[in-house]
Amino acid sequence: MIKIIVGAQFGDEGKGKLVDVISKKADVVVRYQGGNNAGHTVVVGSKTFKLHLIPSGIIHKKRSLIGAGVQIDPEVLYGEIKALEKNGIFVSSLLGIDFRAQIIMPWHKLMDGVKGGKIGTTKRGIGPSYADRTAREGIRFEALLMPKEFKKKVKEIYGEKKKILQLYGVKIEPESKIVKKYLKLGKKLKKYLCDVSLEINNNNKRILMEGAQGTLLDNDFGTYPYVTSSHPIAGGAIIGVGFGPKEVTSVEGVVKAYTTRVGNGPFPTELKNRTGDIIREKGNEFGTTTGRPRRVGWLDIPLLRLSNTLNGFDGIHLTKLDVLVDLKKIKIADYYVYKGEKYKVLSLREEFVKKAKPHYIIMNGFTTEEVVTLKGNALKYVEKIEKLLKLPVLSVSIGPERAQIIFRTKERI
Ligand code: IMP
Repeated sequence: MIKIIVGAQFGDEGKGKLVDVISKKADVVVRYQGGNNAGHTVVVGSKTFKLHLIPSGIIHKKRSLIGAGVQIDPEVLYGEIKALEKNGIFVSSLLGIDFRAQIIMPWHKLMDGVKGGKIGTTKRGIGPSYADRTAREGIRFEALLMPKEFKKKVKEIYGEKKKILQLYGVKIEPESKIVKKYLKLGKKLKKYLCDVSLEINNNNKRILMEGAQGTLLDNDFGTYPYVTSSHPIAGGAIIGVGFGPKEVTSVEGVVKAYTTRVGNGPFPTELKNRTGDIIREKGNEFGTTTGRPRRVGWLDIPLLRLSNTLNGFDGIHLTKLDVLVDLKKIKIADYYVYKGEKYKVLSLREEFVKKAKPHYIIMNGFTTEEVVTLKGNALKYVEKIEKLLKLPVLSVSIGPERAQIIFRTKERI
């Protein structure tokens, strides 16, 4: 049984907390794409866990796997393991890394620093390392564990990368230093090597696939070129982990009660005013990975309809509803107007994105009391979303704590 949890907007929808809560009922949790460009925050009592690579399910001490589709910065991964252990979560028997996952090398990070500015990337080396993967010049996780092989591969690549970086006036540390540092990390990470695809296939376990980023950042189907370099959509789990589509039991989207985006690119319902600032502050909308302030806007139903087309949601989880309390009026974009016509689904054709204007419906604001009891205007807001999307809202998250989530149906995997 495989449930895929997907970010339905531009990432940062609150997937970390949701996966943490749902993973209580799972046997295995798997990351399928991206790398440490992601940042998942989970608050448990007085402890705040910030995870970039390891699936949030680790906090529930579940088998936590990193699939073939992920790019791994070994230094970050090792740091995350140490931080978890410091907080009493010993990952040794829990964590598994697919031998096909790829390694982010120092030149990837340096190149991202040089070229990622236009897109506003996280500068973690994600784009350049996926480019090398596709060009068949990447280094797999298993090679990091084989010193002779690893040295040979770095030797083949290093000279060319150094020359390219020189063109941009960027210096790179000596080859020998890189090899030494990476092999040292390889020794520490060796015990986690596994075949995730084999492990999750043909068993009766309850498996949760945890997406990073969001649908509109998908490399093909998002707001290209303002996208990430992987496939956060549900199909990304299939190719990023290695299983057949018929294995999927359900696909659920995570939707923030408003919209945010970090980095550049189209954002039709963006609020560049005081209301936007209020929501940003209240929602603590600053990147977990880079600390950048997130752009903030109203909920965009046509964008979510597109997201549903790409993912085939069985239902959605609405997060951060509490952030909207005490606003007098809340807007929801219900359709777009383009060349005098109504469009219910957002199109990402360049011309459409440039010229189409969102149409809004205006909802009454709600109080904290209405949110925590999910009554009155808060419930009306949730029901409006259900009606517009023709999808059930499976849960509503009303604060950062694990307990601050209201399930509206029995959650199953
Ligand atoms: P990259 O993934 O670092 O290459 O960045 C590409 C785009 O995706 C940039 O706009 C980033 O801000 C955005 N991005 C990458 N990871 C995340 C994430 O986890 N949440 C939200 N945006 C992200």
